Amino acid sequence: MSVKHQAPRGTRDLLPDETPLWRWAEAAARGVLERYGYGEIRTPMFEDYELFARTAGESSDVVQKEMYRFTDLGERQLALRPEFTAGVMRAWLESGLGGRARVHRLWSAGPVFRYGRPAKGRYRQFSQLNCELVGSAAPGADVEMITLFVDLYEAWGFRDLIVLVNSVGQPASRRAYGERLREVFAPHREALSADSQQRLETNPMRILDTKDEKDLALLATLRANNALPTLLDSIDEADRAHWDAVLAGLEAAGVRYEVDHGLVRGLDYYTRTAFEVHDRSLASQSALGGGGRYDGLIEMLGGAPTPGVGFAIGMDRTLLVLQQRGIQAASGDVVCLVAMEGTRAAATALARELRREFTVECDVEARGFSAQMKTAGKSGARFLVILGEDEWARGEVALKDSRTGTQQTLARIGLADALRALTQETWKQGEAL
Ligand code: HAM
Repeated sequence: MSVKHQAPRGTRDLLPDETPLWRWAEAAARGVLERYGYGEIRTPMFEDYELFARTAGESSDVVQKEMYRFTDLGERQLALRPEFTAGVMRAWLESGLGGRARVHRLWSAGPVFRYGRPAKGRYRQFSQLNCELVGSAAPGADVEMITLFVDLYEAWGFRDLIVLVNSVGQPASRRAYGERLREVFAPHREALSADSQQRLETNPMRILDTKDEKDLALLATLRANNALPTLLDSIDEADRAHWDAVLAGLEAAGVRYEVDHGLVRGLDYYTRTAFEVHDRSLASQSALGGGGRYDGLIEMLGGAPTPGVGFAIGMDRTLLVLQQRGIQAASGDVVCLVAMEGTRAAATALARELRREFTVECDVEARGFSAQMKTAGKSGARFLVILGEDEWARGEVALKDSRTGTQQTLARIGLADALRALTQETWKQGEAL
């Protein structure tokens, strides 16, 4: 009996009607990244398990519950990357990039893997666009990162985006803040979800990151009674000065932000600035992207103390929002060739020639004229090129432009020039709009 295969739970196929929007979004992002002077870095999809466990934090959800961990045939403990940052920093160290220039601007894109419960906007294989600025501790680096983050969304047509920002300070101030939270939550232990009761032991700050209704209600009550201390009140003077400079820089750059005291991020390596953007239409999976500063990460990996700041954008969620807003990738003009019995061979040669420059559709099944015309009509091709037997014998073809509704008979030899002129004409009109 044959077995019916399905895509593994939490994964999905992107079919040809979806990929144009992805390609358009990726191309738009590459343009922005180039203009900001970022270079692409490609790292392996799997790394030593320890690399991720050490950097993301033993108590983080990513390490506790979501890692695709496996032992290979050589008994190595490996994991599919749950994010880019740790791998990019490992590569930065291993290749000695730090010795070549003081500051590096790096981007990556591709699949990442987290074993979460699948939902709308949450997958086990998803795609991130990741950027890192390594080597600068200056607030200006945070400002550049957040500005780049917003400009990527602007290139995808998002307007009036508000970035949520917070400072998560240093590990020591976070520990002190965690203790204060423990005291605040202890009397309300029973009102917390099971997950948050556990977080109360392991990492009370993560309670602020909860999606649980019960927890959210308790948080709202505590906030309303001014009984919930903020992390910003616990950070030291140097972190406070950095924070003030980042906010001033964002204002100077014209970036709209909101301070979110509950923003703590899900990975442990962050220091100082943390930021995210959300889209409410995605309900509990609303984070489209996020990032922050990670000044201790490279040292944690055995390198010299080196500051860094970065972010990752969840492409699946971002594309979901684009689709919901009805944004479609502009498709190029397609030329459809329609041949007759006596011009079939000629159509094959003509298609090959035109495909050096244009997108061309051409029948490969030797179907009749009317069947080809029907397909051409349905395909939405802008141009129809008809190779009639008599016209072809005279060295001519018929060209129909469905956009203008005009039809002309022209010399076959002048066809490419005519198509070029028509497409450029439209392009110019588009530019003028
Ligand atoms: P993150 O917040 O863990 O950050 O992930 C970034 C984005 O990936 C999220 O905002 C979300 O849009 C998307 N994402 C996360 N999990 C899933 C999932 N299961 N399905 C679909 N999308 C998901 C990081 O990964 C950091 N490495 C970012 C960074 C770079 N920080 C500094 N440099």
